[in-house]
Amino acid sequence: MTSKILSIETSCDDTSVAIVRDDGFVEVCLSANQDLVHKPFGGVVPEIASRNHTLQLLPLIEEVRCRTPFSWHDLSGIAVTSRPGLIGSLLVGVVTAKSLALVHDLKLIGVNHLEAHLLAPFLYDKDYKKNENLKFPYLAMAVSGGHTQIYWVTGIGQYKVMGRTLDDAAGEAFDKFAKHLGLGFPGGVKIDQLAKTGDASAFKFPRTMIGDESFDYSFSGLKSGAIRMVDQMDENTKKTRLSDICASFQESVADSLLAKFERAAEAMGAQRAVVTGGVSANSRLRQRAEEWANKKNIQLFIPPLKYCTDNAAMVGYAGISRLMRGEMHDQTLTASASSWPNDFAESSR
Ligand code: KG4
Ligand code: ZN
Repeated sequence: MTSKILSIETSCDDTSVAIVRDDGFVEVCLSANQDLVHKPFGGVVPEIASRNHTLQLLPLIEEVRCRTPFSWHDLSGIAVTSRPGLIGSLLVGVVTAKSLALVHDLKLIGVNHLEAHLLAPFLYDKDYKKNENLKFPYLAMAVSGGHTQIYWVTGIGQYKVMGRTLDDAAGEAFDKFAKHLGLGFPGGVKIDQLAKTGDASAFKFPRTMIGDESFDYSFSGLKSGAIRMVDQMDENTKKTRLSDICASFQESVADSLLAKFERAAEAMGAQRAVVTGGVSANSRLRQRAEEWANKKNIQLFIPPLKYCTDNAAMVGYAGISRLMRGEMHDQTLTASASSWPNDFAESSR
């Protein structure tokens, strides 16, 4: 018999609630994003994000109950993202999950948001088929507005960090560069759209740390270097060659991301690879990753966008997988801006 869990995600600016089964089937996942509220500020404002979670979370839980009626007694527990993220935002989810667990006498599990991203490719639903070929181990790149890391994943709770960004996340670089070009927030998707008609070889933007031995990234230098080059262009060039600028920038991010990912895959002899997080929506990154995987005979898994960007379904699957192993938390669970020391092992490489 399958069991199911109610899950909550509020680590940044998306409020999300889901019901997920232990085999990864998503019965329902509803999210409310806050893009419009943060847009005027050109980025996520933490205080505004947590205030909006307090307004959105309970109505969203009610809506999930209306769409997929369930009895609290039928649930195996409640999962909530408890780390890492914006502390005020996390607190809203954690306090709500603890209250519901207490009131309905349910098990509680605090989930690491990054673990949830890493397990997202196991999710499926009525519109999206299960990835029957996905098995451990696999190499995963989690790349979004807040994270850019490479992990070697060998099982539930077994994640080795191979590499990480030393400064900005790749999505942050997309968003800041887009903001500088006057494209609004979040700008990654705008760059992607404009790049479709641009020439990726028109401008040679920096590829930082690409030849470096480690599997770490740096996107701050790439972004600043590209901004400097754009600032040196005359206004007419900036306007008439906007698509070329976007395509060239996107290519430099894709080159940087894939150089390390491909080398890490080679080092680990990976047969399966996962790209997840909001930036995996980028059409050029997807295309390049698919070309590489085909060439190397590696099975590539990129979850559908709804499970790549922040969502509660991935939190539910990570949470129920942990609960099935007998792991859970009590009412002392607290939100933490950073991962816990034992969440991930460091690679000895
Ligand atoms: O996973 P996500 O929804 O939230 C975070 O955890 O950050 O990722 C959002 C990030 C933003 O930086 C956004 O600009 C970027 O993903 N993004 C894209 C695309 N779609 C979303 N970046 C490049 N190309 C896209 N098509
Ligand atoms: Zn995320």
